Amino acid sequence: MLGNKKNGLVVANWKMELSHKGEVEAAKAIKNLSKGHNWGNTKLVVCPSYPSLMAVAQELAKVDEVEIGAQNVHSEDKGAWTGEVSINQIAPFVQWCIVGHSEQRKLTGLNDEQVAQTAVRLIQYGITPIVCLGETAEQRAQDKTIEIVTGQMKQLLAFMTRMLMAKVVVTYEPVWAISANNPMDLPDPADMAGTMLLLRKIVSAEFGNEAAERMRVLYGGSVKESNVAEYVKEPGVNGVLVGSASTQPRQLIEIVNLVDGLIE
Ligand code: PGA
Repeated sequence: MLGNKKNGLVVANWKMELSHKGEVEAAKAIKNLSKGHNWGNTKLVVCPSYPSLMAVAQELAKVDEVEIGAQNVHSEDKGAWTGEVSINQIAPFVQWCIVGHSEQRKLTGLNDEQVAQTAVRLIQYGITPIVCLGETAEQRAQDKTIEIVTGQMKQLLAFMTRMLMAKVVVTYEPVWAISANNPMDLPDPADMAGTMLLLRKIVSAEFGNEAAERMRVLYGGSVKESNVAEYVKEPGVNGVLVGSASTQPRQLIEIVNLVDGLIE
């Protein structure tokens, strides 16, 4: 039970790294650079900042293998939430949305229950949630990785049915491995794949083998052109979530090429 290797996915999380102009230019570059590539097995999901969603979506509208995602969304449908953005508001522009990124969890105190509820609402809007989970450096040092990710996954499943779970993408992203946290050593690919297998086992125990195999599981944390193959060639890894390296269109396209080559 290692997950099938179809439906590869690369998620480009641009965070708050580029200006509006920079995001539109990056989208144009992606459009040009993706010409002539036929990524039969892999989709690229570009996640710009909110103000650029519409412009980036328009720029990439005709590129078949590229879709648009939001980096975050509020769990409530509407209301007096100054500065927040609802699913309803992103729905015209996106097919995907990152939920529970560790930077949001830290900033806003977002908990596993809110992450799961938001994932369910996104599915109701026809948007695929990309749920992020993973342990911090401190938790890892205390040997709590398995306990933490098991707890996060079980909380997610508590709000899911088998049918809903078929629409969720899970990203295992150890917080300490994110490039902005200056990791001393990059995570060992086999070690990462082992934790991802554990996530599938938890799904299997709840919803059966087929659901566990079908689930798409990504790895995230300091992925670059030079190391992506190491992670994706591990069994059961369907793709990657890329932050920093994804803001460079050439490198991003090369990452998609490499992932597509490793996905049968
Ligand atoms: P990174 O970011 O690739 O720069 O480590 C990944 C993420 O936090 O989404």
